[in-house]
Amino acid sequence: MAGFRAEVVKVDIITIFPGYFGPLGVSLLGKAAERGLIEFAVHDLRSWAHDVHRSVDDTPFGGGPGMVMSPVPWGEALDAVLGPESPGTRLIVPTPAGTPFRQEMAATYSRMEHLVFACGRYEGIDARFTDDARTRVPVDEVSVGDYVLSGGEPAVLVMIDAIGRLLPGVLGNADSAPDDSFGGDGGGPMAGLLEGPVFTRPRVWRGREVPEVLLSGDHAAIARWRRDEALRRTAALRPDLMAALPADTLDEHDRRVLAEDGFPVPGQDMAH
Ligand code: 6GU
Repeated sequence: MAGFRAEVVKVDIITIFPGYFGPLGVSLLGKAAERGLIEFAVHDLRSWAHDVHRSVDDTPFGGGPGMVMSPVPWGEALDAVLGPESPGTRLIVPTPAGTPFRQEMAATYSRMEHLVFACGRYEGIDARFTDDARTRVPVDEVSVGDYVLSGGEPAVLVMIDAIGRLLPGVLGNADSAPDDSFGGDGGGPMAGLLEGPVFTRPRVWRGREVPEVLLSGDHAAIARWRRDEALRRTAALRPDLMAALPADTLDEHDRRVLAEDGFPVPGQDMAH
């Protein structure tokens, strides 16, 4: 199974706002869908509602503010989109109370054959829905950051974008993904670091010059400069990422760059 990849990733999205997913037809994801690399189906949860008002929520047991989504239409919606049990299927429930979404999760999802996204609204979905779903398919409750959105829809757009650009043949340049911030998780030279600044023509703009080294044609020097910049930016903006780097990730030069700029050097006694 090593290296296995479904030839097309099937993505089902269940939501009360199907119109939210118009952007899936645009840009990179739209092209990927056009080329048959990814297949989207957006379902209106209300089509599994039974009353004349097509309601999908109710007041919370135990009291409290807001409304809770009913497990009844959600259960039926999942029954309808879930095919035969398959190890390549995953149910993803966006929630601010979930596991943080990371680049590695995007990579994992990009290798699956069927992803189902269940977009909750209001105060969330009745917990029995996910409990029941877990008996049939692996379920991930996932958050896209430490802030609260009014619903899972924008979070799902974010996740699908991150997943879609990793599908083979989606990015124009096959090398773009590995060097992105976080993209070097496969062990590339920039693993775990934020990407540094980039430049294009004109060489001088409003009196600002492109760093000389980038014009030198010295590929080793350019790679070294880019890594220095990535280290400085990561140390300045994301000390948490810096601290998480494996000890053997930083060489002597890396440590010198950090120390010279007054940043703490991971794995080194702060007193020295
Ligand atoms: Cl996945 N959903 C909602 N509603 N809010 C969020 C979130 C998800 N991730 C962060 N905030």
